[in-house]
Amino acid sequence: MSKIELIITNNYDEMSQRAADKIIELLLKKPNAVLGLATGSTPIGLYKILIEKNNSKKISFKDVITYNLDEYCDIPKNHEQSYFTYMNHNFFDHIDINKNNTHIPLGEGDSKLNAENYENELNKTKIDIQILGIGSNGHIGFNEPGTDFGIGVHDVELHNKTINDNARFFENDIKKVPKKAITMGIKNILDAETIILMANGTNKADAIKNVMDNKVDINIPVTVLNIHKGKVYVIVDKKAASKL
Ligand code: F6R
Repeated sequence: MSKIELIITNNYDEMSQRAADKIIELLLKKPNAVLGLATGSTPIGLYKILIEKNNSKKISFKDVITYNLDEYCDIPKNHEQSYFTYMNHNFFDHIDINKNNTHIPLGEGDSKLNAENYENELNKTKIDIQILGIGSNGHIGFNEPGTDFGIGVHDVELHNKTINDNARFFENDIKKVPKKAITMGIKNILDAETIILMANGTNKADAIKNVMDNKVDINIPVTVLNIHKGKVYVIVDKKAASKL
């Protein structure tokens, strides 16, 4: 049995709410918390709830610091599908955060140097809660199957499965999907105090089963959560839990 705390919810909205509750609880206790953030379709509902709570003054992001997991290479920072743009549109533009306190790896330019710089930034801090989505192939961040669990921030060639999955954000045109990204490594993810993995939909069910089976398999990166020293919550909807 896994020591991970599993929370199965009825639907996407409830999944988002349960994850938001954990962040709200943290911010009320620690207004200058450090959050690790993800992009993709999974956390959109979570960000909406946090925006509402901020707008109604229940929580503040004034002193919050954020670090994102990853960014595409090969597209400009201001591209409509860059994670920089995603974070501003879906979250940062709508809350009282100081944008100088938000950090996203730089995808443009020398990716090795960018990776080294982001690693140095991360090594100066400690993430209180890291939010994760999960790829249908079990990736977390852009740590694709087979990634050494010990490496830090690095550039990566995306797997075909990931490129196919992400084509929906690029007019379903595989040619337009970036083939390379920069990502926190598993090592950086495991440095977080608490990890919240969110997943919804049947295409995540296999990956969720693998992590809850308490395996640790380099070919299914998410299973590394079983050796995290801190707290791990897996918050899923019924569909993502359908193979448990
Ligand atoms: C995004 C990220 C990825 C996504 C994963 C799931 O920052 O690191 O690991 O979390 O690809 O994406 P969605 O949520 O679009 O299914």
